[in-house]
Amino acid sequence: MRLGILTGGGDCPGLNAAIRSVVRSADDAGITVLGFRDGWRGVLDGKAHELTLEDVRGILPRGGTILGTSGVQPHRVEGGADLVREAVDVHGLHGFVVIGGEGTMGASAELSDVPVIGVPKTIDNDIGGTDASIGFWTAAQIATDLIDRLYSTAESHNRVMVCEVMGRTAGWIGLTAGIAAGADVILLPERPFDIDLVVRRIRRVHAERRPFSIVVVSEGATPVPGTLELPAYELDENGWPKLGGIGRIVADRIQAMTRSETRVTTLGHVQRGGSPVAYDRVLATRLGAAAVAAASGERWDVMVGEDGPRIREVPLADVAGRASVVPQDRWAIPEVLCE
Ligand code: F6P
Repeated sequence: MRLGILTGGGDCPGLNAAIRSVVRSADDAGITVLGFRDGWRGVLDGKAHELTLEDVRGILPRGGTILGTSGVQPHRVEGGADLVREAVDVHGLHGFVVIGGEGTMGASAELSDVPVIGVPKTIDNDIGGTDASIGFWTAAQIATDLIDRLYSTAESHNRVMVCEVMGRTAGWIGLTAGIAAGADVILLPERPFDIDLVVRRIRRVHAERRPFSIVVVSEGATPVPGTLELPAYELDENGWPKLGGIGRIVADRIQAMTRSETRVTTLGHVQRGGSPVAYDRVLATRLGAAAVAAASGERWDVMVGEDGPRIREVPLADVAGRASVVPQDRWAIPEVLCE
């Protein structure tokens, strides 16, 4: 059997651990793996090389992806689906292992006659059909560590520290890091916020607990309509809004209303960089092995996902377009509700 492998969408810690796991499991099963550069773009350009055990030695703890990545989606490129089929023929592939996020899973599901196994990755943790995606727990840990650092400087100066985290339209990073670092206010996309209630909570924290506070803002958080103006976001090549900047808007309003000195920190891409935490290394290794097992068993067009203690296979069609967001029973806490 011959398998193509690629990493698509935004990078995250744990991609290399997954690539390594696929190559090692394939080697055990007598399967040849061809690595394609820069996501689906490499397939369209026909750029592939065989991945050997030597190629993946030592990459388990490395951030980024040795294969490179891009957001290219073949069905959005003229003649793209034909070029993918051509690559399958030219390289004698039985199918692809695609390590990607929501967009990449959707693009893979669109290629109805190309056999694909999906492996979920994204710091946003917004892919349905899996408890966690590769990269999420590392991003949550990085954000937690950095908010801990804001806490000590907030305390020294009696300031409000507003920290903007990534996550797109899901609040998983904001909620997890916010709780783990002891934030006083956590603003999530899942629960539109009222800035007046946020300010009231900050005032109460300063009056009753301590004269400084930490506010975590997910980049996709939205105000209750009519309460705070957000700028229109530009769109990226796949039509996703390029989020970022809400932290500054929230911080300015808090400072104006509370008269407490307020500073803003936008964590940005540092949340996606560097070495994966142990959980992501193990998850990536398990999902990579499960992807090869699915391919060996010719169980195509599924995504392998974490389901409690097990790994399960879910039809790609059930995953595409169904983003996983934080459910209400998880976000209904005082820091989010601000009531
Ligand atoms: O999807 C991962 C993610 O880091 C989001 O949290 C963020 O909104 C986006 O990608 C940033 O995209 P880019 O790397 O294109 O700036």
